[in-house]
Amino acid sequence: KMDIFIADLMSKMTVEEKIGQLNLLTGGEAITGSTGNSDLENKVKRGEVGGFFSLTTPERVRKAQDLAVNYSRLKIPLIFGLDVIHGYKTTFPIPLAMSATWDMELIKKTAQIAAEEAAADGINWTFSPMVDISRDPRWGRFSEGSGEDPFLGSEIARAMVKGYQGDDLTKINTIMACVKHFALYGAGEGGRDYNTVDMSKVRMYNEYLAPYKAAIDAGAGSVMTSFNEIDGVPATANKWLVTDLLRNQWQFKGFVVTDYTGINEMVDHGFGNLQQVSALSLNAGVDMDMVGEGFLTTLKKSLNENKVSKEEIDRACRYVLEAKYKLGLFEDPFKYCNDERARTKIFTKENIAASREAATKSFVLLRNENNLLPLKKTAKIALVGPLADSKVNMPGTWSVSTDLSKAISVKQGLEEAVGNKAQIIYALGSNLLEDIEYQKRATMFGRDMIRDNRAEETIIQEAVDAALKADIVVAALGESSEMSGESSSRSDIQIPAIQKRLLAALLKTGKPVVLLVFNGRPLDLTYESKNVPAILNVWFGGTETGHAIADVLFGDVNPSGKLSATFPQNVGQVPLYYNHKNTGRPLEEGKWFTKFKSNYLDVSNDPLYPFGFGLSYTTFEISAPVLNQTTLGANGSISVTVKVKNAGNRDGEEVVQLYIRDLVGSITRPVKELKGFQKIALKAGETKEVTFKLTEEHLKFYNSNLEFVSEPGDFKVFVGNSVANVKEASFKLVK
Ligand code: IFM
Repeated sequence: KMDIFIADLMSKMTVEEKIGQLNLLTGGEAITGSTGNSDLENKVKRGEVGGFFSLTTPERVRKAQDLAVNYSRLKIPLIFGLDVIHGYKTTFPIPLAMSATWDMELIKKTAQIAAEEAAADGINWTFSPMVDISRDPRWGRFSEGSGEDPFLGSEIARAMVKGYQGDDLTKINTIMACVKHFALYGAGEGGRDYNTVDMSKVRMYNEYLAPYKAAIDAGAGSVMTSFNEIDGVPATANKWLVTDLLRNQWQFKGFVVTDYTGINEMVDHGFGNLQQVSALSLNAGVDMDMVGEGFLTTLKKSLNENKVSKEEIDRACRYVLEAKYKLGLFEDPFKYCNDERARTKIFTKENIAASREAATKSFVLLRNENNLLPLKKTAKIALVGPLADSKVNMPGTWSVSTDLSKAISVKQGLEEAVGNKAQIIYALGSNLLEDIEYQKRATMFGRDMIRDNRAEETIIQEAVDAALKADIVVAALGESSEMSGESSSRSDIQIPAIQKRLLAALLKTGKPVVLLVFNGRPLDLTYESKNVPAILNVWFGGTETGHAIADVLFGDVNPSGKLSATFPQNVGQVPLYYNHKNTGRPLEEGKWFTKFKSNYLDVSNDPLYPFGFGLSYTTFEISAPVLNQTTLGANGSISVTVKVKNAGNRDGEEVVQLYIRDLVGSITRPVKELKGFQKIALKAGETKEVTFKLTEEHLKFYNSNLEFVSEPGDFKVFVGNSVANVKEASFKLVK
């Protein structure tokens, strides 16, 4: 039915109208790159626009849609996109934080809520999930992905696509997903945003591609190309990537959109002039041009000069029209413009409660000496730090549509929880950054840059005075919201020095200090880990951050978050990730340095906090894995069982993780690879059995011919509650 409808429509379209469908413009509400578009109204009337992004509310969307369906010749509806990254108005924790929940149902639910809210406000397409594997915390966009692991990343990619799209895209509360950034955007050299990527195919297939593929297999309706190059060819014009891999190998049936001005940027890449790069992009398999208008302004000329074919333009146009058809826009172009839904479905009590729950589950307890946490609600608390009384910094990067004034600050959260404001003695304690940093950053994203102009010593002294009056200090320190995210790479991944000076002064008072770390990336917390007794890593927790922090600090919720990325001891260890290769000269476990081994003179090879790590207010004991058999045949399976005991006196949740190691391979294999995890709840004293099923599929990898194979031989299996705390067993694959 769809094919006939679209073939019929396309038979009536001029070339110009077809090219118009390939043009995605920004409505201008939230410009997310350095340029916007102009003359929007006339372009729509002339049929030169396929869709808008960053244009929201039924009123505005209706107005734009009205232009398309009532004033353009063929009345083709527009598609409306937005960066709905971690919630719409109700904001959830940033994606990196959500990945630390290891809770797929919860992740799916947050995507569902985001879709429901966005759809109620005119949006039918989100530029999410971002599934780029990141191993370099210098990269600001680490915050937007699911960390370093392809297995966990794939599970999350699937959950998010299912959450956004549901099982029926025509439903009024679902929106189309866009998997980004295809591909390898997280592997930019030096962690610098938009930088060059160069990677072997074997690494690409084994370590980076799985989450994109998982999202596509889950039915994602669109894919966004990345800004980087691959094998010397920008992704946005990379035919191998878009046509050979995505379309032909992976059988992707949706449409491919560029990232913001990605086509135009190929001029600076040194890939040709605008006409040439636009033609290269279309011919590579790209269907829609975001913002840059390279397609709009050059494709007709390229067609006349035989640089592109009518078939390629038709192909791209067809994919875009199909997306609109799948969304039901031809049937009812105004279906997402319902004022009643906008009033009743957004920022509801239930959604806010879900945000609070998600935030509590995303926090990772890194340290808790002598069970300093949880705190008593009767304690007198000095609450200090530049992030203690800030609303704007709570939701985190890419909260483009939320109302920041509705976010709950830490101060608000703690005051409400203890019920007596006088118990919370607040002091700023420090600015976020040094003065010079403020000057540098003044041009962009100023909203998170609160600043007190008094002398540093005066501001610190106030905090010290507050500490001296209190039983305990809670210090809210770290990155501001916009210190991670797009175009926010850092070469230093510590808490800013000015805040560390405050921390040192607080520690000197001798009062017990609880550190809340706000961050959009793994940070170097070496100093803090040596000196601060309790550290709760809270990322950016969304709308309900303050409430959620209070829930965890006072023990109403037992923390259960686990790191989805390694925290290094210092930036010089980067990239540091758990699933590395062994090398021919591995350092013996537990050693610091050995001459002629693969190591550093000045730091051990260990991470500060390993992948999968996170403490709880209770303790869990996990037994050694028991296998039902020690050989695995080609179509068989092995069950791996452990007993998990909650050995403490509080109920809690634990993430039981299973890793494998393929001891010998035709290409070298990682020292460990995550292949399963289960998050379970255990009452105090309770024991549960957890069983994983391992099949041959889990043992497969891409060999040097890029064939996805398993190889007979010896394997180890490890089970534990972080990659560094596991017990092992062995088995053999026989074929
Ligand atoms: O979706 C984003 C992308 O992640 C970065 N560039 C801009 C796009 C649209 O806002």
